[in-house]
Amino acid sequence: MNQTEQTGARRVLIASANPLFGKGLEKIITRHWSGQATQFRLVSSTEDMLTEMETWQPALVIVDYDDKTISRAEFLQKFVAGDQPMQVMLVSLQASGAVVVYDRRTLTPAQAEDWLSLVNIPPQPPVIPSPKRSASMKHFVIVGVLIVIVTALVYLFLSNIGLLPIAASAQAQPIDDLFNLHFFMIALLFSLITVFLGYSLVVFRRKPGDNRDGAHIRGNNPLEVIWTIIPLGIVIYFSYLGSVSLAETRRVDPQALNISVVGGQWFWRFEYPDYGITSSEMYMPVNKQALLKMTSVDVIHSFWVPEFRVKQDLLPGENLVRELRITPTMTGEFKVRCAEMCGTQHAYMESPVIVVSQEEFDAWVQSELAAIGTDPVARGERWARNNGCLSCHSVDGSINVGPTWLGLYGLTHELTDGSVVTVDDEYLWVSIVDPNAQIPAGYPPGVMPQNYQDTIPEQQIREIIEYIKSLQ
Ligand code: CUA
Repeated sequence: MNQTEQTGARRVLIASANPLFGKGLEKIITRHWSGQATQFRLVSSTEDMLTEMETWQPALVIVDYDDKTISRAEFLQKFVAGDQPMQVMLVSLQASGAVVVYDRRTLTPAQAEDWLSLVNIPPQPPVIPSPKRSASMKHFVIVGVLIVIVTALVYLFLSNIGLLPIAASAQAQPIDDLFNLHFFMIALLFSLITVFLGYSLVVFRRKPGDNRDGAHIRGNNPLEVIWTIIPLGIVIYFSYLGSVSLAETRRVDPQALNISVVGGQWFWRFEYPDYGITSSEMYMPVNKQALLKMTSVDVIHSFWVPEFRVKQDLLPGENLVRELRITPTMTGEFKVRCAEMCGTQHAYMESPVIVVSQEEFDAWVQSELAAIGTDPVARGERWARNNGCLSCHSVDGSINVGPTWLGLYGLTHELTDGSVVTVDDEYLWVSIVDPNAQIPAGYPPGVMPQNYQDTIPEQQIREIIEYIKSLQ
């Protein structure tokens, strides 16, 4: 509400899309009524005119009769329906024949003054500030309290339904902090929208018999600026938190235990280069950072232990080794799963991840070293398991992706090209290092990785063949 409205000034509303019409009239009226406080408002649309008539309650409304964008029908309807005293002038500056007509071509200042003399307006009391303002403050206070309550309830709910598995690594902490902040923002935004919506539905619903239109509200610049600036600031702040958390998950411990992780269709292999151990299960000492160097022998896989939170893709190619740092903070058995669609057995590409005390880890290392032994068959079985051979070849005769190894040695195989071969050392060697060269009839080519000669030492391949020979 501006300063002048506090006096008992007369209020004159002029409706015309032509600014010259309003300005000219305003000048004439001011001159004519000099000495009497008069306020003007100029509107250029039917909607604004109707709104002002309702809220500002002018004593005189002057409508540009020539302006076709101003709806006279709507105006008159509003005018006759209203109950406060109001006078109206329909002014045409163009032609004669309308309700109140002044031809612009013949209109003289004297005529205009005559016409203005017709209007007799007593001084008006100022518009009484409607009780709406204090009432709306009350609504805002109630809505504010409800938002706080609903936010707290939703946040409590989200925090207690177990959306996150147990956090078992140091890297999980900054990530869970971010998650909790997001849960809070989700709760707040949800409440902000649903409380305003629900409150309005209940409190401002139409009363029986009330057929009035709702208030017409056009843009609100301060509000729009606020609801742009605040979310923008929040998003920028979140990106800052995200980068800080990312850096935290990559914090380097120079004492980290080295583990090479190899993924393939469909197995995990864990190599401990410091000890010369290869395992199909990942053992980790608790509270010690492990530096995982990851690669794939075929397609893209993804190393994911949900309890550790961090996740990393394994890419084929020597120059695409990826690193991940994990510091387990809790002993127990977890499970690594593949989080990247990698073929038909993707869903079953899992391996145990076992976090133990440093002493138990050392004992495991010793037992693994001892178990490697010298028996070529036992060693071959070990290499076959560690390299994932057994995920496609059974050793009990059951049907799997590739031929079973039980009784394989010495068989005669028919190949897809119709030739017949006997399974001997040479055939097995070729089948492992160049699997597409001799495909047994009934099996599709291209399933078995082509690069075992590069990824498995020759001695180990020889021992795998010894193991196959033993399965009779
Ligand atoms: Cu490997 Cu999915």
